[in-house]
Amino acid sequence: KKKVIFDVDTGIDDALAIAYAIKSRCLDILGMTTCFGNVTVEDATRNTAYVVQLLGEDLPVYQGSSEPLNGGELYLEVAQRIHGMDGLGNCLPTVDERRDSPQVDAIRFIIDSIQKYPDDVTLIFVGPLTNLAKVVELAPEVIPLVKEVVIMGGAVTVPGNVRPHAEANIYADPDAAKIVLQSGLPITLVGLDVTMETLLPREYVTEWEKSGSAVSQFFANITDYYISAYKNFKPGIRGCSLHDPLAVGVVLDPTFVDTKTMTINVDIEGEEIGKTYEGEKAANYTINVCLAVDDERFLKHFLTTLAFEQ
Ligand code: BDR
Ligand code: CA
Repeated sequence: KKKVIFDVDTGIDDALAIAYAIKSRCLDILGMTTCFGNVTVEDATRNTAYVVQLLGEDLPVYQGSSEPLNGGELYLEVAQRIHGMDGLGNCLPTVDERRDSPQVDAIRFIIDSIQKYPDDVTLIFVGPLTNLAKVVELAPEVIPLVKEVVIMGGAVTVPGNVRPHAEANIYADPDAAKIVLQSGLPITLVGLDVTMETLLPREYVTEWEKSGSAVSQFFANITDYYISAYKNFKPGIRGCSLHDPLAVGVVLDPTFVDTKTMTINVDIEGEEIGKTYEGEKAANYTINVCLAVDDERFLKHFLTTLAFEQ
């Protein structure tokens, strides 16, 4: 089993990605780490712990960054419209499910794990890249020890989502994104280039409701909210985008996507802050950018792995 650390800012597609990762039974999840993004970091930790517990797992959840590297705003407004006020489609039970977070913080946990299992840890990042940028800055010696990093973020060949030029996870902390994408880490970038192709239509979610289990019902409710939010933003869209689940999918089966080796620049100021685009070929770092996806095969694998309709 691949050893993974999974960094999330648990909103709805993060929750679906967590379910996909856990239910695949193919990953040895060393721990979850959290970041601000769709919600505050405290809420991301609470949501992550809730989802993990609901799925019957006992994984440590390490709280990470509460704000972008260089301070500044959290852009919660758009996220609240897509993911709900609580990040989970306003479906979180009113009881506070917050558990005590382990004492060690997310950044320490990531560094320690890479050192404990050299060349053996895959990092999956599906929120802003703040925690990973801190790892790179604090412990650059671990960079060559990381097996693989799969990141949901960016829009290299297509328009953005939170801004016409920028994707949400990169826009939330462009400085962190630049540090990470130009760090020399072995990165696969799963951006809007491919995640906008992986749509989950509502009819599958309606099936989940029929199974009658509390877990299926919860996931049906949150996904229903997410699909409605997508339809408000893009009338006529066939469903909701499985952004974060696709990053997990690429870890489970890299053949879901076609990649191209590129050097990626990130604008960290100016009109197009948060933009990701192909840059100088001469640079000594490259990453694998996903440019095409077998969306049908991925969706089938995602749905059979979740098996919520049973
Ligand atoms: C990304 O932004 C967040 O809202 C989603 O969870 C996903 O990680 C998509 O741009
Ligand atoms: Ca996310």
